[in-house]
Amino acid sequence: MNDDLNMNAPLHQPKVVVLEDSDQVGARAAEIIASTIRDNPHSILGLATGGSPIRTYRELVRMHRESELDFSAATSFNLDEYVGLDGGHPQSFRHFMDDNLFSKINIDLQKTHVPDGLATDVQTHCRQYEDEIRRSGGIELQLLGIGHNGHIAFNEPGSELDSRTREVSLTAETIEKNSRFFDSVDDVPRTAVTMGIGTILEAKRLLLIAYGSDKAEAIDKMIRQKPSLQCPASLLQYHPEVTVLVDKAAFGG
Ligand code: PGA
Repeated sequence: MNDDLNMNAPLHQPKVVVLEDSDQVGARAAEIIASTIRDNPHSILGLATGGSPIRTYRELVRMHRESELDFSAATSFNLDEYVGLDGGHPQSFRHFMDDNLFSKINIDLQKTHVPDGLATDVQTHCRQYEDEIRRSGGIELQLLGIGHNGHIAFNEPGSELDSRTREVSLTAETIEKNSRFFDSVDDVPRTAVTMGIGTILEAKRLLLIAYGSDKAEAIDKMIRQKPSLQCPASLLQYHPEVTVLVDKAAFGG
């Protein structure tokens, strides 16, 4: 793996906001997404799955119900999907999004995009996904979690800076971590379709959320180490507008 990035592009310090606990992280992230939609109802949102965004989605649902936050003109693109899982599969990311957010707000389902885990021609599907993002005008705000190994979406360590939407193999560590959502580790798909690092860096603003002490090491590497392919999250230092919302534990304190 060539980890000599030798990039001439300037580096940026992400804006790090340390909050008390995971509820505050979820609420602050929801506020940022909500104000994006209020400023521009036609916003193109990049969305994420996993444990981290659940509180954020719960809060957005509450804002929709109680404050009439209106998603009707918004469009969304999700980061990734397991290859081999139908969108109706309980562990598919399409199902996660429908269940946690889309079915509880007034977004037009036709404007929600999640890679198709059953695409017969995966390469063509990945290219089309990139085209759709581009045609939409580009992602205004991309929500991100971070893996324990520093992965961003399913861009595992070693992913290239200019990587695009593609099929990737999951590391043994990711399969093991994600097996908590499946009956057994053998049921976890071995590959996934993910937006690339290059795709993510094209979003206008990035919003990364993390909480819990088990994320502290990844957050530390992301913020303090020089960018390295070994820690995909550290590559976000090439983006000028990154906000990181963490609780105290994930900040190492
Ligand atoms: P998590 O996953 O939110 O379930 O911790 C984050 C990730 O793996 O990107």
